[in-house]
This record gives sequence, structure tokens and C-alpha cells, in this order.
Amino acid sequence: MEKTEALILLKQHITSPSLLGHCLSTAAVMKGLATELGEDAVLWETIGILHDIDFEEIHEDMEKHGIIGYEILWLAGVGDEIALPIKRHNHMIFGSDYTTPVEICLQVADSVSGLIVACAHVKGGNITDVSVKTVTKKYKTPSFAAGCDRKRIALGDALIPRERMYEIAINEITAIKDELGLN
Ligand SMILES: [Fe+2]
Repeated sequence: MEKTEALILLKQHITSPSLLGHCLSTAAVMKGLATELGEDAVLWETIGILHDIDFEEIHEDMEKHGIIGYEILWLAGVGDEIALPIKRHNHMIFGSDYTTPVEICLQVADSVSGLIVACAHVKGGNITDVSVKTVTKKYKTPSFAAGCDRKRIALGDALIPRERMYEIAINEITAIKDELGLN
């Protein structure tokens, strides 16, 4: 699936600018982590783009999250290589069962993207002022961006050293800063 095709499909289901930004930043981190691990960066980026496609349709019923996403993708003709990790990224249902790199990294990207964007917001929207040191410090402050689940970020430690992962994630989000309204 082409990136542009994935974005068109996403925008048929998601209208919230902040949610679209979250999908783009998660996708950017997925692309970077795939490249680092020698995985399929195009595939992982697409999974990131589409991972929350059901969010405006589940009306905060988190038991449906991922399940409805899988149905939307299935109806759109998107195959299991993309749709299955998206179904299973709902950690409230499948959280004890992530073993593949793509599933682990989707947990990491989904959470660390929010943490990094929140770091940029406390620096006046300047992502260029966010360093590995900034993110390390804010990770250790549970009240900061409390919705970013630190346990999901820590899953990535099995695959990539933490500081390297932060470095990749910051660089990838910086590369799309204009799309995210950051400086
Ligand atoms: Fe997400």
C-alpha cells in the first residue's frame, strides 16, 4: 500500500487535526525504527499511519479499539500484514502478548511520539529544542504527559538501546515538524 493511499483512507475516518498529527508522528517513528532494525520501513510507516483509524468510530469504547480498525481495513481491502498488527496494538486486550518487532515498535512509537510532542510543546512548540536528555528526564516524570504509557515505551528496550530510540524518534518527528505545526 502506498503512503498517499493510506493517508487518503485515514482521512476518510479521522478528522481531528490532533489525532491526524498523532498518526503522522507515530508513522514517522515507525519508519525510523524499521530502518534501524533492517525491517520494511514502507510497511511499518503505513501501519503507523493507519493504527488509530477507528478512533472516531469507537466513541471511547476501548474494547472496540483495533477490532473496528481491523474491520475498516478489511473492508478497504487492506491485508493482514498491515491490519493484524493494528488490531493487536490495543494493549488493553493484547498487551501481555507482544513478541514480534513490529508489534513491539508500534507500542513504542504510539507512546513515545506523544511524549516527544509534549516535550516540544513545553519548549514553545520548538521540537528543535528537544534533546535525548529532555525526553529522558520527562520519561522519569510520571505526571508529565501522563497518558503516555511508560511501560509501552520500555518494551522497546529489548530491541534498541533507549537513548538511540529517543534519538531516532526525535529526528523523525523533527523531519515532519511543519506537518505537525511545530518549529
Ligand atoms: Fe495511537
